[in-house]
Amino acid sequence: MLKQTLLASVLISSGLFNSAAMAGHGEKPHAHPWSNFALENTLKAMPAGDAIRGKEVHNQMMCSSCHGEHGESPSRNYASLNGQTVAYTTKMMLDYQDGRRWENFGQAEIMVKIAQALTPQQISDVAEFYAANPATVWGDANAKTEPVDMHIDKLVRKGDASRMITPCASCHGAHGEGIGITPAISGQVPEYFVRTMQAYQDQQRHNDVNKGMSQFTHDLTDAEVQALALYYATLVRTR
Ligand code: HEC
Ligand code: HEC
Repeated sequence: MLKQTLLASVLISSGLFNSAAMAGHGEKPHAHPWSNFALENTLKAMPAGDAIRGKEVHNQMMCSSCHGEHGESPSRNYASLNGQTVAYTTKMMLDYQDGRRWENFGQAEIMVKIAQALTPQQISDVAEFYAANPATVWGDANAKTEPVDMHIDKLVRKGDASRMITPCASCHGAHGEGIGITPAISGQVPEYFVRTMQAYQDQQRHNDVNKGMSQFTHDLTDAEVQALALYYATLVRTR
């Protein structure tokens, strides 16, 4: 499994293979869902990254054109990557490469192509670069002065046992700072946040190890998803 993944990426990056040759034009590449064991070993086998080299990758591979100079997205269409954990960024790039993550938005397809052009070393380097850039609060200062929505605050910190929703903060951290493969979500672009939560609800995004996120999002209302997006976008990180 691990060898296959690394070999595939080496072949892809050396130009011997491309996504069209592997999967047929327009077809999704397929990969088995992660087991905890396979993911842990794959992440352990990744080369050590370097943030300075990662900055070069970010600029040379044009990541900056969509994700911003420091990974803080200048646009509502793209995810912010600054302040993200190394393990999560690494996992996303591997998931795009292997087609584990491929939502039906057209946009994910761009990421699949881009990820397939990167070597394992470049992935590790760029992940270090984003982790080294401090998290930012999204949007204008006005949003921050809005009163905290008590219902959302409770959902985040206590969850909702009647709907089997585990508190978001128990995994994503009290300040949405993330840890390991659990992503940082504070400071995230709200439009992206909503889109990806809907993708979990629709089962279009199912690249997480035990598919927990689709369970936690299943019974959230649209209004709750919107409010959670704003709550996290404007949550100040104390890391
Ligand atoms: C043409 C625009 C574009 C470029 C260039 C681009 N990305 Fe993306 N990226 C996106 C979009 C759009 C998404 C969100 C996809 C989705 O909604 O499924 C994304 C998502 C991501 C994610 C997942 C974010 C998350 O929070 O899960 C990572 C990591 C990422 N990109 C890294 C990179 C890196 C590294 C590069 C350069 C090698 C790059 N991107 C280049 C548009 C781009
Ligand atoms: C049991 C732990 C757990 C709980 C509880 C949890 N999450 Fe997650 N969440 C994760 C993991 C792990 C991922 C990454 C999945 C992957 O690998 O793609 C994730 C992914 C996400 C993402 C996608 C981030 C990105 O950059 O694309 C968002 C948004 C999110 N969670 C929001 C929430 C919210 C809001 C709640 C509470 C309603 C919540 N999560 C509850 C573990 C959890």
